[in-house]
Amino acid sequence: MGRTYKIATIPGDGTGPEVLAEGIKVIDAVSKKFGFNINYTTYDLGGERYLKTGEVLPDSTLKELKTYDAIYLGAIGHPDVKPGILEKGILLRIRFELDQYINLRPVKLYEGVETPLKNKGPEEIDFVVIRENTEGLYTGAGGFLKKGTKDEVAIQESINTRKGVERCIRFAFEFTRKRNKQKKLTLCAKTNVLTYASDLWARTFYEVAKEYPDIKTDYAHVDATCMWMVKNPEWFDVIVTDNLFGDIITDLGAIIQGGLGIAAGGNLNPEGVSMFEPMGGSAPKYTGKNVINPLAAIMAGSMMLDFIGEKDAAIEIENAVKKALKNDIKSLDAGKMGMGTKEVGDLIVRYIKE
Ligand code: IPM
Ligand code: MN
Repeated sequence: MGRTYKIATIPGDGTGPEVLAEGIKVIDAVSKKFGFNINYTTYDLGGERYLKTGEVLPDSTLKELKTYDAIYLGAIGHPDVKPGILEKGILLRIRFELDQYINLRPVKLYEGVETPLKNKGPEEIDFVVIRENTEGLYTGAGGFLKKGTKDEVAIQESINTRKGVERCIRFAFEFTRKRNKQKKLTLCAKTNVLTYASDLWARTFYEVAKEYPDIKTDYAHVDATCMWMVKNPEWFDVIVTDNLFGDIITDLGAIIQGGLGIAAGGNLNPEGVSMFEPMGGSAPKYTGKNVINPLAAIMAGSMMLDFIGEKDAAIEIENAVKKALKNDIKSLDAGKMGMGTKEVGDLIVRYIKE
């Protein structure tokens, strides 16, 4: 027996199961080629289960999830379930309870993919956003006063701890060094207004920076970051930012790399169990039609293999995806790829076998 990994899969809602199936197909192909085994265990978390049983994420499941080498997720979100229940109850709860404190989101335009940015190509669009993933405005701290009255008050607090900020910033410096491209790390915050939260981020950033004299540091307010991402994306190498700013700028990032059809992310706990997912949602209207693009899930699979230590297999998947994008796939949008969901998976497998 060669190397064996235990992976938990959460296909989830809508098109989640379809795209994850293609991701698994591709991982199976590289695992054969590179001589390792993966044992999958599927968890039926998501909207259907919630509607049937009222269960969102049982504590026992959460405990089990902590025993895997990684988690591979399709999508969470169901049209018949009030927004927030599944997202907070499954996705965010896993991120928080497994202390996946980094959300890693590469923004990379591949050859053959169209970007809405004028005069920009793969040379210019290649950076990584490192989003803090367990704090900020996402902790659920806050509450209502006099809810439903004319005097109602709603408070939503941004929690930023020195520990949480520092571990994220340290990860970002290390990552920038290993990535070894421009060796430039940009802090994205809002120091001109958020004079507590962003102040902590900036102080920590410049303090940690002293330990990384080989890394150039840069700062951009979050609003300006959005502007530069569109006007001069080539300025960026690695961006580090808080949870909500990271959420927002990575959707912008996804669209400049060609859309949610290709954007993948990793929820990382470098000392624990990490979870990998396509960035797109459950896309209910495309469910079961074999039209959704599985490349984001396939690339999430590549990130997962990279993270568990199968780097060659990860690169092999990326190279196959690059070929398919250059030669075969017409568009990244659902229904416009020039082939179906399954055919995209088959194509990637074919390139891997070649
Ligand atoms: C993402 C998503 C989630 C987030 C939602 C579904 C809770 O938008 O992964 O970016 O806001 O983090
Ligand atoms: Mn988001």
